[in-house]
Amino acid sequence: MRILSGIQPSGALHLGNYFGMMQKMIAYQEQEELFCFIANYHAQTSLIDGKALAKGTLEAAASFLALGLDPEKSVFWVQSDLPEVQELTWMLSNFTPMGLLERCHSYKDKVAQGIKPNHGLFAYPVLMAADILMFQSDKVPVGKDQKQHLEVARDIAIKYNNEYGEIFTVPEPDIDDDVATVPGLDGRKMSKSYGNTIDLFQEDKALRKQVMRIVTDATPVEEAKNPETCNIFQIYSLFLDVAGRENLKQRYLTPGLRYGDVKQELFEVIRDFFAPFSAKREELLAKPEELRETLALGAEKARRVALKTMRKVRKKGGLIY
Ligand code: ADP
Ligand code: TRP
Repeated sequence: MRILSGIQPSGALHLGNYFGMMQKMIAYQEQEELFCFIANYHAQTSLIDGKALAKGTLEAAASFLALGLDPEKSVFWVQSDLPEVQELTWMLSNFTPMGLLERCHSYKDKVAQGIKPNHGLFAYPVLMAADILMFQSDKVPVGKDQKQHLEVARDIAIKYNNEYGEIFTVPEPDIDDDVATVPGLDGRKMSKSYGNTIDLFQEDKALRKQVMRIVTDATPVEEAKNPETCNIFQIYSLFLDVAGRENLKQRYLTPGLRYGDVKQELFEVIRDFFAPFSAKREELLAKPEELRETLALGAEKARRVALKTMRKVRKKGGLIY
């Protein structure tokens, strides 16, 4: 089975990215055919500072590799190293009803937040469909927020296939209900755009500061606490197995627990969990030429698959004359 997903290099990676998508992708490489890329064209919809994007791209790639993505076992590349995806986007645009895009929550939410409604932002789901369909992906692991974009990709694939025959695999979303939405410091979805993240790679002091900012209720120390509604508990749980979670739950239900102590513990857990990956990431970033070489090899592998699709769609569309 072919699994594909991408991540935008538009800011620091956080626990939501890791538990919502990256960890799962890395696990897939052991059994399935994994395609994973850094969506830098997509990031241009929110980041116009070219230097920041270039730096973010290398950092996102180093982070994924440090966390365990193996470029030998998977196909790992940077989206813009295969500009063919833009050509496919154009072809798919002609099979994308305006209404389909107008209904997209993500577009409407971004505009409501004050982001300028330009064409890039509007057409974003078509580029995402091209990413997915180009590689004939069977399954796409993403967080819940991307579900509608997957539906758009499926609709476009079906419309195109109706016209030209079975050209594209119709992809299935792969959304894990357990960790579908990792909460942020304030209990809303953890997201860069809400400024409520706990970032994976940062100095200890900055990490501790983020953890200490987790919002809690005002239950007094001497009373039992409710784990289910507590943001610290929800985030801490991501690092615990069933027994560990039960143990923490019992501590919540026993009067005397101090949120400050649990936050300190959680800070240490996060720090220790990511410390080895952080060291590896630094090593990779210290040799950017080697990193670029790894990405170029990945793009070559990806291109071999992409060109098969491109040949078919160019022919069907009448561009080969
Ligand atoms: P952000 O919301 O911070 O901008 P992205 O949109 O770049 O994050 O998300 C990259 C990937 O991580 C996507 O697959 C997305 O669904 C997943 N993801 C992001 N935030 C969360 C979260 N809080 N919980 C679960 N998955 C998430
Ligand atoms: N839009 C996705 C996000 O913000 C990133 C992305 C781009 C993607 N192309 C994709 C995810 C193709 C899955 C498949 O998270």
